[in-house]
Amino acid sequence: TVANLQGLKEGKLRLTVVTTAKYIIPRLLGVFCHRYPGIDVSLQVTNHEVLEERLSQNLDDLYILSKLPENFEVTSYKFLDNPLVVLAASNHPLANEKNIPIERLKNEPFIMREPGSGTRKAVKKIFEEHGVSVKVRMELGSNEAIKQAIAGGLGISVVSRHVLALEGSTRKLKILDVQDFPIERSWYVIYPKNKQISVVAEEFLKYLIEEGKQVVEETADYNFQD
Ligand code: PGA
Repeated sequence: TVANLQGLKEGKLRLTVVTTAKYIIPRLLGVFCHRYPGIDVSLQVTNHEVLEERLSQNLDDLYILSKLPENFEVTSYKFLDNPLVVLAASNHPLANEKNIPIERLKNEPFIMREPGSGTRKAVKKIFEEHGVSVKVRMELGSNEAIKQAIAGGLGISVVSRHVLALEGSTRKLKILDVQDFPIERSWYVIYPKNKQISVVAEEFLKYLIEEGKQVVEETADYNFQD
């Protein structure tokens, strides 16, 4: 309809995404905004806790996260895998070992995400399930800082594999071959149940679901096969 076309010509798209999605969403927006040059985008990057606050206040059109909220009814679509891997410096003693039992990580200095992070929750859960308590050496509120800390030899961590996008051959970092990893997760795009979303939001949602995976693979230069 005319109204729809008008919306796509000069609409606004407000997104809030969890920290790991910042490694894919800007690239996805590249293709989308090229297609609809009149659309204005605002993108907030934050952790799960803050995202859920924004969701409950209805501040954005769409939200992207890895674990669905428990106390809030949403419409959700899964659109891409987001596995969590164990990351170490490439000169780490475990870097070339195969099939490392998870218990071996208990003596490794560990870099943990901040409270409120969904990654932190997933990591705590898997270690608890295996009765492993890791030695938290440092808490950091950013995947980027964690990556730098690992490269600097401060310890190991568990991060989304997508954190390595655009790292090229990642000479300084190595994904460890630990049993029970990767932790299989996915990204969902969500909005409050029964909310009437805008034409632009609907178009972006459709694009994520139909083309998201392909665009992400085409625009990454990290080889996800390890
Ligand atoms: P977080 O979420 O930033 O809250 O850790 C990231 C993720 O779950 O992928």
